[in-house]
Amino acid sequence: MTTILFHVSDIHFGVENRAALAAVEEAIAREAPQALVCTGDLTQRAKHREYAAAARWFASLGLPVLIDPGNHDMPYYNLWERFTDPYRRYHRLCAQLGESFVSRDVVLVPLNTTVRAQRRFPWSDGVVKRRALDETLAALAELEGDARSVIVTAHHPLLGPRDEGRNPTIGGDEAFAALARAGAHAVMSGHVHVPFDEIREREGFAMRMIGAGTLSTRLRDGAPPSYRVLRCESGGRIESELRVVGGQLPSAAERVVSAG
Ligand SMILES: [Fe+2]
Repeated sequence: MTTILFHVSDIHFGVENRAALAAVEEAIAREAPQALVCTGDLTQRAKHREYAAAARWFASLGLPVLIDPGNHDMPYYNLWERFTDPYRRYHRLCAQLGESFVSRDVVLVPLNTTVRAQRRFPWSDGVVKRRALDETLAALAELEGDARSVIVTAHHPLLGPRDEGRNPTIGGDEAFAALARAGAHAVMSGHVHVPFDEIREREGFAMRMIGAGTLSTRLRDGAPPSYRVLRCESGGRIESELRVVGGQLPSAAERVVSAG
């Protein structure tokens, strides 16, 4: 058995890439994946109209949609709401999407890596708080003995592009080791707007890190818009196909490791 997931990220409704979204729409209509996963930065400024556009687009696809919050998905201008109820708009979108997703091949477990504020600037980089990690670890503990592939979904990559140097995600190294030790096979992410697919290791535990790239007009490091198709079987067998929309990946881009 194989479950096909589409992995998109960083659509940033408000500055979305219409051609890239059309390519995803066509592929979904043609290939009928079982679900779509969007690993955060659904919107550009968390405006109501941007959330409404996201809700319309996701609903139009006609399949279960699973979303993570990104750093762009908390109110940017309304600081009162950002501090008192940062996920209100995000949770309303979750309720609108409303579908749960169950597969015989794969199970998805979210990890929240966004915070409303932090002691450093910018506030956009990821932070894995103890409580968020504990929630994810509790969900993984319940899956002990489960034969399915286990994928954690998080907006921010848990590790930086290289092992040496500063990890932009605070707590990311510890979270990576804890999740891998707890049996996660892979973690899907976005945020950096560049696709990647690599096996990394912390404290002797290996885990795959898969990034989708972006479907927005905010392109970085010469990487065009992209998304992924994941063909998941049980036991951690996950085939990841990178699909680039209207361009080519720069061959020198170190992080871009396309797995077929
Ligand atoms: Fe982000």
